[in-house]
Amino acid sequence: MNKNDYIYLDHAATTPMREVAFEAYKKTEMDAYANSSGGHALSRKAKNILEDSREFIASCFSAAPNEITFTSGGTEADNWIIKTPYIDKDTTAELTTTQIEHEAVLASAENIHSKGFNVNFVSCDGEGITNIDEFRKSINSNTLIASVMYANNETGVVQPIQEMSKIVKDINPNTLFHSDVVQAVATKKLNFHNLGIESAAISGHKIGGPKGIGVMFLKTGYKIPSFLHGGKQELERRAGTVNVSGVAGLAAALKEQQNNLDKDVELIENEKTIFENNLKENIELRVVGENVERLCHISNIQFKDINSETLMVALDLNGMGVSRGSACASGAQKPSHVLKAMKVDEQVINNHLRFSFGWNTQKGDGLKCAEIVKKTIKELS
Ligand SMILES: Cc1ncc(COP(=O)(O)O)c(C=O)c1O
Repeated sequence: MNKNDYIYLDHAATTPMREVAFEAYKKTEMDAYANSSGGHALSRKAKNILEDSREFIASCFSAAPNEITFTSGGTEADNWIIKTPYIDKDTTAELTTTQIEHEAVLASAENIHSKGFNVNFVSCDGEGITNIDEFRKSINSNTLIASVMYANNETGVVQPIQEMSKIVKDINPNTLFHSDVVQAVATKKLNFHNLGIESAAISGHKIGGPKGIGVMFLKTGYKIPSFLHGGKQELERRAGTVNVSGVAGLAAALKEQQNNLDKDVELIENEKTIFENNLKENIELRVVGENVERLCHISNIQFKDINSETLMVALDLNGMGVSRGSACASGAQKPSHVLKAMKVDEQVINNHLRFSFGWNTQKGDGLKCAEIVKKTIKELS
């Protein structure tokens, strides 16, 4: 099948690399290929690209350059923040997170729990918003880290991050408030300091940058142990030769994204609304999180009497790529932990699909996609 005939609605899993990001990546790899830690002219060239990119990326989040450390992606940043601070603590230290986090946070939290630390997995309501009273009660003088994602990757539902950060700091000013903003930064401009976010995980491939590059943001004043040991790269925080080409690609992607954000968000929101409304008028369905704030690019739809795996395969055959929004274990359909936490009825928990739009979504895509979904469902019935 011609690539141009295939409709890609899985941007929340990964979005295509922007041309400018690819060019910046290629140019850096070709012209500034030296090790950025070396002592000669070509190394200095790579180092300059690295530091200029760091400065620009920091400015996109109203952060300082030394608050930015480059990682291999969002998973590494989440693991680093959540696991390493417990290394030298006794087991009175606690962690609070939520039941709807991405696996990168959940598995890190479970790892901490397996080492004897108390971990509070705070529940959410039916719309996917964290239960604030339960969250408040979980924070105490032993809470080392509180980790809440800005927005959920399966539903797009946005959490009251600023309020939650304030709750944490009022109870325990020493608790580090971490937020996985991987999905949010795809379509939102965030000012970490204003939001009360003290550490964050960012991933390049959700913004149109290369895969295998990400950012760990850590507010000035905090220090956490290194995750990778070896050389003294990244201000001695993260060992390993720095992926300067990836960093340059990420900076270029972010620059283009920020320049176009308002118009892209408007277009994506419009197309998503047309898509959802057209489907709602013709098929029995429920849009998850419809009554609360959601990221504009994610639409999680619960279909009536249609298994998501069956529909996903049929859509693929009809030229549309979507996902269930959660990992599938060797063919066995495992219900999403996010939908389970939202207490979605067992009868319909496997009837959900995630449709996610992105920076190269075109005017008219909403209607075109709704037509394909309707046609596919008709064929299945
Ligand atoms: C919310 C969230 N956190 C973390 C990650 C992991 O990021 P990466 O793929 O860069 O490791 C993802 C990617 O799916 C995500 O959606």
